[in-house]
Amino acid sequence: MRERKYIPSEGTSSEIILWTIAELINHTSIFDKVRDEINSVVGSTRLVEKSDVANLPYFQAVAKETLRLYPPLPMTTRKCCHSCKIGGFEIPQETMVLIKLYAIMRDPNLWSNPNEFQPESFLVSSEKQESKKYKQDKTFSILSFGVGRRACPGSNLGLSMAHIAVATLVQCFDWKVVGDGEKA
Ligand code: HEM
Repeated sequence: MRERKYIPSEGTSSEIILWTIAELINHTSIFDKVRDEINSVVGSTRLVEKSDVANLPYFQAVAKETLRLYPPLPMTTRKCCHSCKIGGFEIPQETMVLIKLYAIMRDPNLWSNPNEFQPESFLVSSEKQESKKYKQDKTFSILSFGVGRRACPGSNLGLSMAHIAVATLVQCFDWKVVGDGEKA
């Protein structure tokens, strides 16, 4: 399979920030866990920094779970260099294939309760993490940045902007939903 044209969107990181805020504000126990983790690692005398994120595994899991449920680019494309068979379908050479990343990341064969916000599914025992099969499964089930040679080159930048923005908001503000969902 070969490349296709892609115009990077400025909105990808901001979209992830907004979805993370939306999920945290609607899951107060998860919000509390993230804040506890930030407080225990960073303390209350300074703001969270990029270098702290490596020590915030639960918060990282929250970001991954948001990327899984709300990939800012829900589809990607590839052009087939050779004829091939995918899922029983014959794909002729030069065909442009649309790959629905969103559907793969909500596939019930890969995830239990695929539509639920469950950051815990990214917190696994080190024994499991070391298993080759597990690594392969996870690599191909989290596809929010694409995969292979044409995967997103801005993934570290995008993710790190989202991490810092959300972590700072969690650290500094108490969040709550007001009213009954109607305009307050
Ligand atoms: C959370 C933030 C972001 C997400 C979820 C995201 C997602 C993606 C996805 C799904 C692709 C297609 C990959 C594929 O087809 O395999 C892509 C490609 C790309 N992204 Fe991002 N992106 C993000 C942030 C960024 C940022 C911050 C930049 C630049 C500063 C960037 C630059 C690019 C470029 C240049 C490509 C095209 C790569 C190619 O075709 O070889 N992205 N991104």
